[in-house]
Amino acid sequence: MDIIRIKDKQFAVSIPETDILRQVERIAGEINRDLADRNPLFLSVLNGAFMFTADLMKYVTIPCEVSFVKLASYQGVASTGIIKEVLGINEELSGRTVVIVEDIVDTGFTMQRLLESIGTRNPREIRIASLLVKPDKLKVPLRIDYAAMYIPNDFIVGYGLDYDGYGRNYRDIYTLCAAQEQNP
Ligand code: IMP
Ligand code: MG
Repeated sequence: MDIIRIKDKQFAVSIPETDILRQVERIAGEINRDLADRNPLFLSVLNGAFMFTADLMKYVTIPCEVSFVKLASYQGVASTGIIKEVLGINEELSGRTVVIVEDIVDTGFTMQRLLESIGTRNPREIRIASLLVKPDKLKVPLRIDYAAMYIPNDFIVGYGLDYDGYGRNYRDIYTLCAAQEQNP
């Protein structure tokens, strides 16, 4: 399925599942190497990171825990900049190595907000694992420790990412077809 239609928009496949999984396995290898003795807590950011988290965790072979947090900042195809914490963090983070697992870092506001929130809980360190990074849209300084792929500024769906709630179920990543772009 090279072209899909979601609501009013068309998307074309841009990153096939095999390419995604190769990069997910690569960063899992880096995590296995770097954090072998740190008993990390992976904190997956719902909803977008659910598929990435599932695949990443299958390649992580060191002792670790996994938990979930839910934030929301997007409406349609443009970030609102307003971030809601819908499902909070219940784990004890004090002294822990926390690895935030995100689907995509766009402006970076969501990640910044999460770093602030986790930072107040006295963790040993916070690392960021993001499936995708749009480096040209980043508006805040962030160190992304584990980035599976860097992409241009296009709007994408699939592999957990959505357009108005739809498209998360596709195993490949799709890019919004040109001529339909809104909001620079
Ligand atoms: P940020 O706060 O601008 O970095 O936005 C981050 C969140 O916006 C991500 O966790 C995604 O859920 C969502 N997002 C950013 N870019 C896209 C995209 O191209 N497609 C779908 N969701 C996106
Ligand atoms: Mg997200």
